[in-house]
Amino acid sequence: MKFINFNNAGSSFVSKNVNNSIYKYLRYEEKYGGYYAADKFNCKLDAFYKNLSILINCKKDQISFLPSTTYAWNIFLNSLNFPNKKNIVILDNEYGSNLIYYKKRNLNYRVVKINNGKVCFKDLETKIDSKTFLVSVCHIASQCGDVIDIQKIGKLVKTINPKIIYVVDACQSVGHVKIDVNKIRCDVLVGSGRKYLRGPRGTGFIFFKDTLKNNFKPSILDMKNAKIKNKKIEVEKKRMFENFEYSPALKFGLNAAIEEINNKGLGIIEKDIKKKSIFLREKLDSFSQIIFYENKKILSGINTFNIEGFRAKEIYNYLLSKNILSSISTPQSSMIYFKKKNLVELVRISIHSYNTINEINYLIKCLIDLIKK
Ligand SMILES: Cc1ncc(COP(=O)(O)O)c(C=O)c1O
Repeated sequence: MKFINFNNAGSSFVSKNVNNSIYKYLRYEEKYGGYYAADKFNCKLDAFYKNLSILINCKKDQISFLPSTTYAWNIFLNSLNFPNKKNIVILDNEYGSNLIYYKKRNLNYRVVKINNGKVCFKDLETKIDSKTFLVSVCHIASQCGDVIDIQKIGKLVKTINPKIIYVVDACQSVGHVKIDVNKIRCDVLVGSGRKYLRGPRGTGFIFFKDTLKNNFKPSILDMKNAKIKNKKIEVEKKRMFENFEYSPALKFGLNAAIEEINNKGLGIIEKDIKKKSIFLREKLDSFSQIIFYENKKILSGINTFNIEGFRAKEIYNYLLSKNILSSISTPQSSMIYFKKKNLVELVRISIHSYNTINEINYLIKCLIDLIKK
């Protein structure tokens, strides 16, 4: 029984080539043992940095391979000493786990409004003041597919004060829409492999700009990213968040996935995803029972909705019975967003470019059948 995956914002189907790369690497380990295999195929493993640096336009050594966005985001924020009385500025689409972090550390965060998918720049300007230490934004939220203008935010933040640390959560956007860390002017960008990059689960990364590296100590140090010299800790500047242990097979798989994107061209993928999202929306626009929450002008592959008279779980289960994978978002995924929208739940359909128009037509038919029941 074949499933159609419209939960790419959860995790995409990986290509055969990606799975084969992982198997291939595991066979290297079978033959050479974990440590010797990593030495022998070091160059092949390092291709990951080259390919990701091409995709997001940075230097190879500014990237560290990590297990997830949450891990990357936490390891970075845990490395910072938040000066007393300083504040953090975030957007009202902030990811649930990030909010848990602010609360856990009792950080003073200020929330900037997004209206119909567009950041309120007046509000952003007022929320940033002389005590702002960090601005952290979510490029495309888990629970809402509007694409946030992170370049315009970066420009404003750095014009107000170049010392403010600008962090971008690109978990849902990397491999999905174009990202150029230089244009965005971000200091840090984090992402996961299993979503729009179509890599394996358990993979992610952090991009970390050189200007912040002096005197910076990642919160997890070991013999890989640090050494003791003259009784002092010296931190490795290259790939500085990486520790000794990781999964080379998964890195190999993620590299294969990113290489596929670079070969195809992200511009083509981005356009195709958008075209398919618009197709879905236009076919369902005349059904007033379906309420979508994204602004059609800034659509990504993530489309969220409710259907009058149905609970999200009913829709999810119904689609599952038709072999369609979707997902449900609840306030846990973004407390501030759900409160603002006065919502308790929603259904998420996340389209990738490998989803075909036939698959989307089948989804549309199933949803119309459900409404007409
Ligand atoms: C916007 C956003 N940020 C962060 C995360 C966390 O990513 P991970 O589960 O890979 O740590 C997610 C996961 O869905 C997300 O959608």
